[in-house]
Amino acid sequence: MIRYGLIGFPLTHSFSQRYFSEKFSREGITDSRFDLFEMPDITALPDLLKTPGLRGLNVTIPHKQAVIPYLDRVDESAAKIGAVNVIKREPDGKTTGYNSDYYGFKLSLVYWLADYDRTTAGLRALVLGTGGASKAVLVALADLGIPFKSVSRTKTNDSITYAELPGLISDYPLIINCSPVGTYPHTDEAPALPYDQLTDRHMLYDLVYNPAETQFMKRGQERGAATLNGYQMLVLQAEKAWAIWQE
Ligand SMILES: NC(=O)c1ccc[n+]([C@@H]2O[C@H](COP(=O)([O-])OP(=O)(O)OC[C@H]3O[C@@H](n4cnc5c(N)ncnc54)[C@H](OP(=O)(O)O)[C@@H]3O)[C@@H](O)[C@H]2O)c1
Repeated sequence: MIRYGLIGFPLTHSFSQRYFSEKFSREGITDSRFDLFEMPDITALPDLLKTPGLRGLNVTIPHKQAVIPYLDRVDESAAKIGAVNVIKREPDGKTTGYNSDYYGFKLSLVYWLADYDRTTAGLRALVLGTGGASKAVLVALADLGIPFKSVSRTKTNDSITYAELPGLISDYPLIINCSPVGTYPHTDEAPALPYDQLTDRHMLYDLVYNPAETQFMKRGQERGAATLNGYQMLVLQAEKAWAIWQE
């Protein structure tokens, strides 16, 4: 049996386990299983890596950064982001860390721009929130050559605040919500943007996928903006993890 799984703590519900279990049954993959490995302390990882047949792990909160010193190698984009959410274990036991959110976001953005006949040329982005997800998004934007500004509730050398957005928003056609604002059950909340300044040239990308249509997206649509939720990124990052494990 080839084994895959998710490490994190606590592990209450998991998109990955559901996604891979459904994928295995849909695609007739009978030699593989995906388990949850609840791991309060990352020092338990070396023992887990000795599991016979183990080929790959997803990594979630709180271990995405702490896992790095336990790996033999870290892929270039994961190193730049400073977080790993996919581990591949080679047959000789050597481990490599990757960040599949980076790949999922980058690919979903490229597909979405193509849907609207838009290119990255001249595009500029506002990235709302400065947590873990935003770090993968910023590295992907930099690699795509899209200039960006980070927007935070707190002003820092690397970010502006929401209060600075009026007057600026017309220069940034792409707005990416990397904050949890608007996630179920707080579905009536939306990031603090000057929505009345949005136009039909704007593209609003919400990393939130529950609900499928957030207030951020609805308010953008009212102004004619294109919108996308985080579901495709979620699926693309899972498929990237699978591709990495099969390489
Ligand atoms: N679609 C996907 O594949 C995918 C992948 C990863 C994550 N996500 C989603 O992306 C979102 C962010 O993930 P994360 O892990 O980076 O989350 P996080 O660390 O909890 O929060 C991200 C940032 O959002 C800002 N923020 C938090 N609460 C806020 C509030 N009440 N009002 C305004 N800003 C607030 C904070 O930045 P400041 O303090 O700088 O304002 C925070 O650092 C989550 O909803 C997650 O589910 C989706």
